[in-house]
Amino acid sequence: MRPQITVLDAGGQYCHLIARKVRDLGVYAEVAPSETPAAELAGRKGVIISGGPSSVYDPGSPTIDPQLLHAGIPVLGICYGQQLMAHILGGRVEKGDRGEYGFAQLDLLHAGGLFDGVVGRQQVWMSHRDAVQDPPPGFEVLGSTSTCTVAAMASPERGLYAVQFHPEVAHTPCGTQILTNFVFGACECVKDWDPAGQVQAIEDQIRAVAKDRNIFFFVSGGVDSTVAYTLCLRALGPERVHGTYVDTGLMREGETEFVRENFASLGARAFAVEDAATQFLSSLATAVNPETKRHIIGEEFVRVQQRILESEHFLDGHWILGQGTIYPDTIESGGTAKADLIKTHHNRVAGIQKLIDEGRIIEPLASFYKDEVRAIGRQLGIAPALLDRHPFPGPGLAIRCLCTTSQAPVEKLPEGWLLPVQTVGVQGDSRTYRAVLAIEARNPGEGFPDSQEESSSLINKMDRINRVVAEVWTAGKLGNMQAVPGFLTAERLDRLRRADAIVRRLTHASGFDRAVWQFPVVLMPLGTPERPDSVVLRPIDSVDGMTASVVRMPKDLLAEIVQELSAIPGIAGVFYDLTNKPPATIEWE
Ligand code: XMP
Repeated sequence: MRPQITVLDAGGQYCHLIARKVRDLGVYAEVAPSETPAAELAGRKGVIISGGPSSVYDPGSPTIDPQLLHAGIPVLGICYGQQLMAHILGGRVEKGDRGEYGFAQLDLLHAGGLFDGVVGRQQVWMSHRDAVQDPPPGFEVLGSTSTCTVAAMASPERGLYAVQFHPEVAHTPCGTQILTNFVFGACECVKDWDPAGQVQAIEDQIRAVAKDRNIFFFVSGGVDSTVAYTLCLRALGPERVHGTYVDTGLMREGETEFVRENFASLGARAFAVEDAATQFLSSLATAVNPETKRHIIGEEFVRVQQRILESEHFLDGHWILGQGTIYPDTIESGGTAKADLIKTHHNRVAGIQKLIDEGRIIEPLASFYKDEVRAIGRQLGIAPALLDRHPFPGPGLAIRCLCTTSQAPVEKLPEGWLLPVQTVGVQGDSRTYRAVLAIEARNPGEGFPDSQEESSSLINKMDRINRVVAEVWTAGKLGNMQAVPGFLTAERLDRLRRADAIVRRLTHASGFDRAVWQFPVVLMPLGTPERPDSVVLRPIDSVDGMTASVVRMPKDLLAEIVQELSAIPGIAGVFYDLTNKPPATIEWE
């Protein structure tokens, strides 16, 4: 399909989110490198320039073909896209050193146009360092926030629009209206996109790529691999599509049985379970660093895969590998041209890359977003119990079981306790790896979280941290806790598995699981020699994992959860993550 809107990728992790939002409006959009020549964009009804981690003053920072701004195609610049537009057209961009990450209040100076139907003060989401100080000649300022005078600007007669905030994220409630105004108002797009209507085209494509070869899948049991597998099953028939589920020893309680039953009900005839727990755990025995863990897991996956392919004679050229990769999997591993490496996804490590390079791979969902995959799954008649499962990361509990060799104590700060535990985060499109701050619960009886706003301002203020948790329960004094050396051992994984199963059971029974998009339960190596670990609860809401906000849990449910968690041998504390994404990621790693 020919896109009506092209989103130019200036390296932002939100780039695909913009395209997805446009598709949600029923308009087909694709992503292209920012430097795409204007001539190649002829025929588009509009172009959006994404945000990105760079400064327009950085050497080699992403740019666009300046002709694009004179081509008569409407252009919307978002965040870095606004700065780039101002910079190219003779406005002034000022370099910031601290940046602004989080909610802001937008005051509109001009109604209508880009802000048609948007009335009064608006909450918007900011994530930027530099900012436009003076708009280019001929532009008018459409809106400001207390810290950003040019929060939106336009030159409507030239079809040029720009905003400093992120209209594509859920934290900007008027964002959908702004994108609607741009797409249907300024660009005059027509509706042409419905993912569920793509089933036939995907199946045709699977047949075209597979030719006379069969497809071999490593299924995870998640929505993506299940939908991808089902599409291949329909396209080629059950005799030509094989599935193997690798039990890595890093899965949740009861997962293998769940997957086995589901694939049977989908009509899979060739389905096997490979027990590789010992292999994975021995390779991970001394791994601590998140990227190291991910790398080892990726390599082990490839090794298991290789072993199965060889033992089953699947390497004779009659087979290709199917995967449930979706768009966000590629963006967050730096899949687009310039996104900073936020983390390495296991299906993009070297071994898999080799198969991709040889063209022996099929990823039927690689251009779809999660909710589009669900829509396709519904169209295929896959059970809601499977489609509505919370997403679960491929590397499994390994990225929720934090490891350390340190024995450092917690450190008292005026704001709370600095924990000797580092986690992954994302700020202004770049990856961070920083410490966690634990604060006391302000109103322990009132349910959690009670201090989300405080968490954002603490992180904006303190360079050493990227995450804030509330202390919910500790066996002893928090001040006496320390990092306890711990690795990915069967014992610690069992501890986490028990904690996770408790949380899943109680949240399901109370219906709270339907109020959250995902609920990682994390084990961190913080406690005492007798009780070496603590559990962190991380219930979040999200649209597709690109951004996330913390969800408040009813206090009775929290009390029940804490009561059961505190009875697990070795558990020293229970904490509640109060941090949105950004600045933290959903997983702790
Ligand atoms: P983060 O932690 O980056 O997570 O905010 C965003 C979403 O991606 C999921 N995730 C993964 N999914 N393989 C996957 O299939 C992975 O390696 C992986 N890492 C993170 C995470 O659970 C969240 O939903």
